[in-house]
Amino acid sequence: MSAVSTDPRLGGSILERIVYDEDTLARRVTELGAEITAAYPDGELLVLGLLKGSFIFLSDLVRAIRRPLQVDFLVAASYGDAMVSSGNVRLVYDPETRLEGKHILLVEDIVDSGRTLQRLMAVLGERQPRSLEICALLHKRIAHDLQHDVRFVGFDAPHEFLIGYGLDHAENYRHLPFIGSLQ
Ligand code: IMP
Ligand code: MG
Repeated sequence: MSAVSTDPRLGGSILERIVYDEDTLARRVTELGAEITAAYPDGELLVLGLLKGSFIFLSDLVRAIRRPLQVDFLVAASYGDAMVSSGNVRLVYDPETRLEGKHILLVEDIVDSGRTLQRLMAVLGERQPRSLEICALLHKRIAHDLQHDVRFVGFDAPHEFLIGYGLDHAENYRHLPFIGSLQ
């Protein structure tokens, strides 16, 4: 615990605990890469990362997928600085890439209420992809608003506010190489 509170990256903030350490994350991301590789034996695959939260997960994940693919990003604004979802989702950046006829894999850091994904799946589904699936590193399993299956899930997450490995609180802590629970 003292190693956690004295980590210079935290700037004095105290972590409740480390939930997923670097090794645990790396092992699971490698497994997810293999699952995704096996799930797409043919066709064009476009991996769409939801910014900003997915940026570290996505960069590790695509390097664990052993087949051709393309990468693009989406920006959907929702949370602001709050620790609870406002329910408002705005699409700020649309991918340039053509989606029609491609396997689209939407990559998200964490599924909480599921509102962000619910909205995005509707928008992306209209563009006639060959398939449309979600990969989330973390799933809180409380997403009553999400009508789609999350096909690839890294971990069922505890119902705590998590930071690190891309996840932020008020834009801080994204650069932590592990995932911790904020006190
Ligand atoms: P949803 O639309 O309620 O599912 O919210 C999804 C987004 O909220 C995620 O992409 C995160 O950016 C943010 N979020 C949800 N839970 C957490 C958390 O525990 N820590 C940090 N961000 C979170
Ligand atoms: Mg966020």
